[in-house]
Amino acid sequence: MTLDAVHRFGDPLYSTARENRGFDLVLPKVDAVCGGMSIRTEQPCAPVVKPVHRSPYIVSMRANEFARRLETIMDATRKILELNAFDMDAADKLDPAVMSLVNRRKRAFGPTSMLFYERPLNLVKGEGVWLYDADGTRYLDAYNNVPSVGHCHPRVVEAVSRQMATLNTHTRYLYDNIYTYAERLLGTMPDAVSNIVFTCTGSESADLALRIARVVTGGKGFIVTDNAYHGNTTAVTEISPSSASPEPRPDYIVPIPAPDTYRYPAREIGPRLSQDVRAAIAGMKERNIRFAGFIADSIFSSDGVFPGEPGFLADAIAEVRKAGGVYIADEVQPGFGRTGEKMWGFDRHGLVPDMVIMGKPMGNGFPMGGVAVKPDLLTAFGSTSGYFNTFGGNPVAAAAGLAVLDVLESEGLQLNAFETGAYLRSELRIAGTSGERIGDVRGAGLYTGIEIVKYRTSREPDRDGAERIVNELRRRNILIGTAGKHGNVLKIRPPLCFAREHADMFLEGFTEALASLE
Ligand SMILES: Cc1ncc(COP(=O)(O)O)c(C=O)c1O
Repeated sequence: MTLDAVHRFGDPLYSTARENRGFDLVLPKVDAVCGGMSIRTEQPCAPVVKPVHRSPYIVSMRANEFARRLETIMDATRKILELNAFDMDAADKLDPAVMSLVNRRKRAFGPTSMLFYERPLNLVKGEGVWLYDADGTRYLDAYNNVPSVGHCHPRVVEAVSRQMATLNTHTRYLYDNIYTYAERLLGTMPDAVSNIVFTCTGSESADLALRIARVVTGGKGFIVTDNAYHGNTTAVTEISPSSASPEPRPDYIVPIPAPDTYRYPAREIGPRLSQDVRAAIAGMKERNIRFAGFIADSIFSSDGVFPGEPGFLADAIAEVRKAGGVYIADEVQPGFGRTGEKMWGFDRHGLVPDMVIMGKPMGNGFPMGGVAVKPDLLTAFGSTSGYFNTFGGNPVAAAAGLAVLDVLESEGLQLNAFETGAYLRSELRIAGTSGERIGDVRGAGLYTGIEIVKYRTSREPDRDGAERIVNELRRRNILIGTAGKHGNVLKIRPPLCFAREHADMFLEGFTEALASLE
């Protein structure tokens, strides 16, 4: 059967796909016959819709479900992975050496792996705030929070190498450096959050936190913000509306608007959020869904970077607790001193979470994650379930984690985040007054969002403008990214050793890149 034949049969799947640029229809493997057409047995009349335009996601569904779901899919394909993404089909426009790497990647990784920038980077070395490509070009890294205390920090490298040469194994033996690390890390948390489970990634941490929350509350319902990202497991994808998943969101996950401090006055942010939380809980009750909790990235990074006024989150969390839910603070982005004022983002709001999930910056590039948790919750979870993670909290992870804490302290990086971040934003605000395109500059510590708009008066998001700036900066050897529901928020999130001189370099490049929009 050809596509034309499908069209002639008036298949809504085909016409709806065609009307929406970026999708095409491909036929499934033929293994049965239905109504004279060859199709798959287990899903009668189920051709496959394949996005052929940049998007890597393949969706299989019944024809009459497609129109209903298309909106979700189209939305999903613009989500987090597509922000600032390299168009894989443009590989032939690159330098031969880079083109060859892109093609090898394409062949080996298939369609789901994304690269950054119009011209992807082939990196060979990192040091402090600098990254170097294969030609020896040096880039100012204003994007990466994984090497939180600086690329290849010698103290972390030394600690990891020494431990790797001494002992590394799975996690079911005694070794003392992990307890030293656990005690030091828990020492930075509120007293009530006094247990920790180690994992290897933020996604694993979020997944475990969900499991604990569901066991202790007996509920399944979760509230999330509407462009949140918390990770990539099956369960965590459900609570990550910015993930590109073609599955319809289950009705026990209720997204609420992020605290958009650009479009609403500061005094309305807290009340709006608590009202939305209350409504979400009431909606679940009406649908007989038992409420389990609220998970929030304390700086709402993928929602568009909204640290907001300290304290605005408190009333919403009180609503969560009143309804018997737990509050999970996602500190994968703001944690480990990045917000400058405090070690943890939730602490800016004067809150004590039931669970804190950690990841990225924890090991300065060594894969580490964790869930810090109130002991009664872990005890309740432990009465029915166990948890084992082969690599989570191994001796090398402990060495990396301890070295990161040492460097944060000895180099005063939290204070640097506070001071350099404040300086950067005040200069950016000055730069913003001269034109129309900077709608808002916001942030905390070394986490800054710049909202690019078409006109300051209309506040209309300008995603293309934001991507132009990102690529103009990349041409000037400065690396940043984008965030937000509309992809129009520039995300500036450098290693914490980013100092005033680096901020000045950034500002010079940024002023030129911004001018290119006019
Ligand atoms: C806020 C937040 N939570 C969780 C995760 C998941 O972490 P990982 O990619 O290490 O699994 C991310 C990753 O980007 C994140 O930004």
